[in-house]
Amino acid sequence: MGVLEGKVAIVTGAGRGIGREIALDFAAAGARVVVNDLGAAPDGSGAARVADEVAEEIRERGGEAVASGDSVASVEGGHAIFRAALDAFGQADILVNNAGILRDRTIFKMEEDDWDAIMAVHLKGHYACTRPFARYIRETGRHGCRILNFSSVSGLFGNFGQSNYGAAKAGIAGFSRVLALELAKYGCTVNTISPGAATRLTIPLREGRGDTVDPSDPTVGPQQVAPVCTWLASPAAQDVTGQIINVMRGTVGIMQQPAIIRSFKVDRLWSQDDLDRVMPVLLDAKRAHDERVEKEGAPEDLAVDG
Ligand SMILES: NC(=O)c1ccc[n+]([C@@H]2O[C@H](COP(=O)([O-])OP(=O)(O)OC[C@H]3O[C@@H](n4cnc5c(N)ncnc54)[C@H](O)[C@@H]3O)[C@@H](O)[C@H]2O)c1
Repeated sequence: MGVLEGKVAIVTGAGRGIGREIALDFAAAGARVVVNDLGAAPDGSGAARVADEVAEEIRERGGEAVASGDSVASVEGGHAIFRAALDAFGQADILVNNAGILRDRTIFKMEEDDWDAIMAVHLKGHYACTRPFARYIRETGRHGCRILNFSSVSGLFGNFGQSNYGAAKAGIAGFSRVLALELAKYGCTVNTISPGAATRLTIPLREGRGDTVDPSDPTVGPQQVAPVCTWLASPAAQDVTGQIINVMRGTVGIMQQPAIIRSFKVDRLWSQDDLDRVMPVLLDAKRAHDERVEKEGAPEDLAVDG
């Protein structure tokens, strides 16, 4: 029996790339899947029937799936995507907010439309798809649900030329931390994925740097993210919530969350002299922390049996 037997999953942006691999892996693990995808170009323009193709592929492999071509970027779209699960399968257990686009520009060239399009698909898209699912969980008392949200090192570390995307992706990490608190009493876990994979969004950038990219390599292509999502959606991860999991280059890692590393206290206003003394100590503490985290976070080889 698959680890997602009896579950119904909604995967947004599942017509291509990482989302497609998640939908296929969820179905192979026994889930019935709503394959959502508008079929947009990388910048969010246009539409194509890619969701139908993936749903058909799942059915050909003996699984159960329906396609949804609605956009995540509106409340109506999010509601329709959620309704597709109830209409086809009568329940919903797992939501993967994966749909995404890029509009890379430096701030000097960033037009309002580039900003708004990214916020609409990523940040509003997460809200629009999550709200109906969260309300359903509360209204039905459904226990043990799962939400997986998609952030990026672009927002968590910072990446040149992506202030719109980085802001949305950092916002998604904040959104997830709050949701994890709000849904805890319903036994619904909320985790964030920070992926890295060769897809149409990243292959042009990698090739532009002169890299040879082979997406069929399981340490390079989008298929590496799917098993981690399946594990997080499975009963094994019932107590894992509020985490950011990094999956890229064949590694799986847990990321740090914002936290105070060192602090000082006074019972009066801070003077400039105080701050001259304190700030170098704080910056040293941050440097030492970063060095320790960099060392401890370096990937270790996993011993494989046999
Ligand atoms: N590939 C990476 O290295 C990487 C790195 C960091 C974050 N991410 C994030 O991972 C997610 C998946 O990215 P990918 O690389 O697989 O990209 P992709 O372009 O291969 O797939 C994204 C899919 O989302 C769909 N989509 C776009 N707008 C939509 C909308 N409004 N409604 C419904 N579907 C929509 C697209 O049609 C596309 O099929 C995205 O959120 C992306 O930002 C990817």
